[in-house]
Amino acid sequence: MASRTLSIAALPGDGTGPEVTAEAIKVLAAVAASEGISYDIEMLDWGGDRYLRTGEIIPDGGLDLLRSKDAIFLGAIGHPGVAPGILEKGLLLELRFKLDQYINLRPVKLLPGVETPLAGRGPGDIDFVVVRENTEDLYCGVGGYLKKGTPDEVATQSAVYTRKGCERCIRWAFEYTRLRNSPKKTLTLVAKTNVLTYGHDLWWRTFQEVARDYPDVKTDYNHVDACCMWMVKNPDAYDVIVTTNMFGDIITDLGGILQGGMGVAAGANLNPDVSPNGKRGVSMFEPMGGSAPKYTGTNKINPIAAINAMAMLLEHNGHPRAAARIDKAVAHVTGTKMASQAAGRMGHGTREVGDLVVAAL
Ligand code: IPM
Ligand code: MN
Repeated sequence: MASRTLSIAALPGDGTGPEVTAEAIKVLAAVAASEGISYDIEMLDWGGDRYLRTGEIIPDGGLDLLRSKDAIFLGAIGHPGVAPGILEKGLLLELRFKLDQYINLRPVKLLPGVETPLAGRGPGDIDFVVVRENTEDLYCGVGGYLKKGTPDEVATQSAVYTRKGCERCIRWAFEYTRLRNSPKKTLTLVAKTNVLTYGHDLWWRTFQEVARDYPDVKTDYNHVDACCMWMVKNPDAYDVIVTTNMFGDIITDLGGILQGGMGVAAGANLNPDVSPNGKRGVSMFEPMGGSAPKYTGTNKINPIAAINAMAMLLEHNGHPRAAARIDKAVAHVTGTKMASQAAGRMGHGTREVGDLVVAAL
């Protein structure tokens, strides 16, 4: 597969999304040239501006267009002129669900030179991965109102868990822990079995059953509230965490700040399945941070997260060597060239950080 053209759809999106996407593509171009990777990128203008102009979030035929690609790169969504929830649900969650990207993979790795708010901790102490289920739970949009707008109003929002949904995620997390093969080789289930005695009991039982197929992987369990304490107190104890969608959303923001903030945190929305005709699921790679509208066009936003997301894209599309080269270049730049990972305080502009990574390749 390495010899065929890697076809990418890029959705730069809103706010600073286009600026960080440009740097990620700059780094892709450089590594592809030196590794002999052939790729093409189709730029799509989906996001807040287009929605305000046309009323359309995903244009007609848009999903099929994405299905014809190998991978999607997403810059950022979130527009000050669009009510909260519209673009999140209509674009980001829609793509995760419709493309069945059931794994949200979020590495929490402290890079050299990057400041963590945890006192006395360095890069060797913070290096774990969260595998977040990405299609179920409270994110399904199941619920409704009764007597909306009256004093007797009732609102429900239900968490949905399926055996298939949790099993495929848990199994993937075991496989991933095995492949990662760290000295800890431990998969920790994070849930809330003491309160969510139906849904998380299903997760718990499934976790125990699947674990039997992976006798070489150690298992552990944390309630999600305790996990938030341990992530701060003993981050070095974690190897891989597998968790439900909403808890995964919350603990990966905590993880993001432990690794230096949204300027560096990246994630992958993976559909790891292969259809009978050999077509691989289409996965989407994104910096975890939002669109940071106040920095739009100022050359101040940190592109490292987007560059890390591009490395993940290459890793998951048959180019692990190119991905490793980007990782190494990024570690060199954070370790020796950047004053901070915060927007406006990097000691360089957005484009200059991209140039530094290219130079370090
Ligand atoms: C994330 C984001 C999204 C989520 C929002 C924007 C819907 O917070 O990717 O973590 O909750 O999954
Ligand atoms: Mn989130």
